[in-house]
Amino acid sequence: MSTTGLGFSGEVAGYYAKFRPGYPPPVIDALVAELGLTGDDVVLDLGCGTGQLAVPLSARVRRVLAVDPEPDMLAHAPKLPNVEWRVGSDADVPELGRFDAVVVGQALHWMDHERLFRQARTRKFAIIANGTPLWRQHPTIRRVLEEWFGKPMTAGCGTDSEARRRYADALREAGHEPREWTVSYSHEHTIEELAGSLFSAMSPDTLPKPDERPRFQERLREAIGNDSYVEPITVVVISTP
Ligand SMILES: C[S@@+](CC[C@H](N)C(=O)[O-])C[C@H]1O[C@@H](n2cnc3c(N)ncnc32)[C@H](O)[C@@H]1O
Repeated sequence: MSTTGLGFSGEVAGYYAKFRPGYPPPVIDALVAELGLTGDDVVLDLGCGTGQLAVPLSARVRRVLAVDPEPDMLAHAPKLPNVEWRVGSDADVPELGRFDAVVVGQALHWMDHERLFRQARTRKFAIIANGTPLWRQHPTIRRVLEEWFGKPMTAGCGTDSEARRRYADALREAGHEPREWTVSYSHEHTIEELAGSLFSAMSPDTLPKPDERPRFQERLREAIGNDSYVEPITVVVISTP
């Protein structure tokens, strides 16, 4: 049962931890360089999920405070000496203290971004979109999902250019100078991994029942016509130097 109503609880959190491609080293290298992070810095990862950003960043900075409202997501995060995992949300930011940088990976669309940019005590932000949702990049995947759920699949999850424009405008209004940059790579999913990644984007109440999941996976395999899918991923980052 979801504790937050956000949809990242229970089995979905497990699928997220196991099947979401995180951020490969070139993305982390570019992020560290753009933000000018050093081994002395303390970073807030807001909406940290199961640690896709916090874990690789923790090897490059002094400490990461990783905050997420969903305890089930945090339950899948690894224990690391310099990462503190804490239940909380963007509403708690004023009480969290001052940070050398605040990073938000694939989660700003859940937050009040204007308030966050005004309230966070930092000079450096990085707002990161990890590619585009699978149903937006591949018409066959969209068709399988739309047939399964019987409704259009349109959610952009903050990755579209309109959302990015709003985020950049709000950063400017809060006195920052945002810059957009990208890193592209590809990620090969087996069909099982592709299904797992799609399950990680569902909510526990829409997730196919365990005995229906093999049928969903088979439908995906037939529609894709292959045993794997190579996802072209462009990570888009808006950062403030
Ligand atoms: C799509 S996941 C992103 C996880 C990870 N940062 C990544 O880059 O893959 C979105 C996360 O945002 C969290 N979230 C939702 N609302 C939030 C809020 N108001 N404040 C902070 N995090 C929130 C969710 O619980 C979820 O773990």
